[in-house]
Amino acid sequence: MNIILTGFMGTGKTLIGKLLSERLNYKYIDIDTIIEEREKMAIVDIFREKGEGYFRNVETEVIREIIPQVDNSVISVGGGAILRKINVDIMKNNGIIVLLTATPETIYERLKHDTTRPLLKVNNPKEKIVSLLSSRNAYYYENCNIAVSTNNRTPEDIVEEIISKSKIN
Ligand code: S3P
Repeated sequence: MNIILTGFMGTGKTLIGKLLSERLNYKYIDIDTIIEEREKMAIVDIFREKGEGYFRNVETEVIREIIPQVDNSVISVGGGAILRKINVDIMKNNGIIVLLTATPETIYERLKHDTTRPLLKVNNPKEKIVSLLSSRNAYYYENCNIAVSTNNRTPEDIVEEIISKSKIN
């Protein structure tokens, strides 16, 4: 049994993933961190030097290699991982998919000083968040078992909702 956290950038996958894994005594695995270790490069540099297509291929490689091998783990995947069917199939076969959500305003407030998200390094990041969310939301909701809002709530509250909705423990 694994819990796989999906959702847009800034929905709290890393923070919630770490807390949830401690609460359940599960291992915590962050797919983006594994990509950075493997490529020996920050994601923002991978995008800049090798392009998004290259990043997406490495992302699929890591998902394909790591997720089927692990158990009793909380796994965070990058916000764009649901865009490829192969990634989603692997996730569905290996765990409960939990979607974390937040409004565009909340996401913008959380990320406005962030420099690590290549897709938001644009003139108008607010507009980019709205347009990316509207093109991705259908994928997020179609490819999750449960959805949990992270707006104006404590991390502890969010963790408890995930546990009760996913009927583990
Ligand atoms: C991306 C989200 C990022 C990272 C990359 C692309 C996306 O992960 O994988 O910058 O396409 O939404 P987080 O969702 O952890 O920020």
